[in-house]
Amino acid sequence: MPRILSGIKPTGRLHIGNYFGMMRPAIDWQNKGEALYFLADYHALTTVHDAAQLREATRRAALDFLACGLDPAKAVLFKQSDVPQVTELSWLLSVLTPMGLLERCHAYKDALAHGKAANHGLFAYPVLMAADILIYDSDIVPVGKDQKQHVEVTRDLAIKMNETFGKDLFRLPEPSILPDLATIPGLDGQKMSKSYNNTIELFLEEKALKKKIMGIITDSTPVETPKDPETSSIFGLYKLFASPDDVAKMEADFRNGGTGYGDFKKRLFAAIWDHFAPARARREEIERDPGYIDEVLRKGAARANELANVTLKRVRTAMGL
Ligand code: TYM
Repeated sequence: MPRILSGIKPTGRLHIGNYFGMMRPAIDWQNKGEALYFLADYHALTTVHDAAQLREATRRAALDFLACGLDPAKAVLFKQSDVPQVTELSWLLSVLTPMGLLERCHAYKDALAHGKAANHGLFAYPVLMAADILIYDSDIVPVGKDQKQHVEVTRDLAIKMNETFGKDLFRLPEPSILPDLATIPGLDGQKMSKSYNNTIELFLEEKALKKKIMGIITDSTPVETPKDPETSSIFGLYKLFASPDDVAKMEADFRNGGTGYGDFKKRLFAAIWDHFAPARARREEIERDPGYIDEVLRKGAARANELANVTLKRVRTAMGL
């Protein structure tokens, strides 16, 4: 049975890029092996420096993930920081991590390119991520395309460690990236990302969601003129939510002309709203039980600790500690 692992950073509210790129595939994987998913609060600390905000975002991410269908009877859900052993493994990996490898990683490079002052945590981010993956002997890591490089770094480090300290020290993980969902577009058609300010957050209030969708910027093509669906972020997003028949209908309406962008936006809003109706109901149910999330995370942490302790002991011994 494969071991499946992934994480999500609680830096703010989760969005539909997270949902299609990672959460939904991860929820599918919970039926196919032993799945472990965590809220990467150590990683979030590279940018969030407000304790109340981090706590609230972490809890909310757990709630959203459970509402979307993560089933604690099938998958383990926990907070990254409930397994502090990963920070020790991160150090043990870092002594074999070439500086050049991290200098090539995109999160750090992007920060420099945007003139941001990068902290050491951001620079070392991929090493902690490698520790997250390797400490649970993970086989499969479901992620969006932007995390592919990090899983490759993990493999490089695992190979190096195995060459140095024993060939069976670490299992080599594989990323699992669904081709159609590798990069979910945002409101402006670029990759959906908090840093581009183009996100549609999960579980927005009806009014707020409508406002976001109706505010999508479009060109000034008149209603009667045919339009190109392929370059439209409205159509790009609609494809994720609507049935094949409805997608075909919107595509035809774009190409035939006679329909305005306002109409397309209303259809997009309705499709998103309907898609999340069952998850909204589940979310309300979970919220009515105040102890539920804590209990899920407590049990998750216990299982994750068991696994982490075994790996860490093996690595410490192999390295001479
Ligand atoms: P994070 O929190 O940035 O993103 C969580 C997951 O959502 C995916 N994602 C997207 N997929 C498709 N289209 C998009 N527009 C989009 N935006 C986000 C990401 O690819 C990711 O899979 N470093 C990780 C957290 C982490 C982790 C790990 C993941 C820490 N340790 C170990 C896997 C294994 C991160 O920041 O994800």
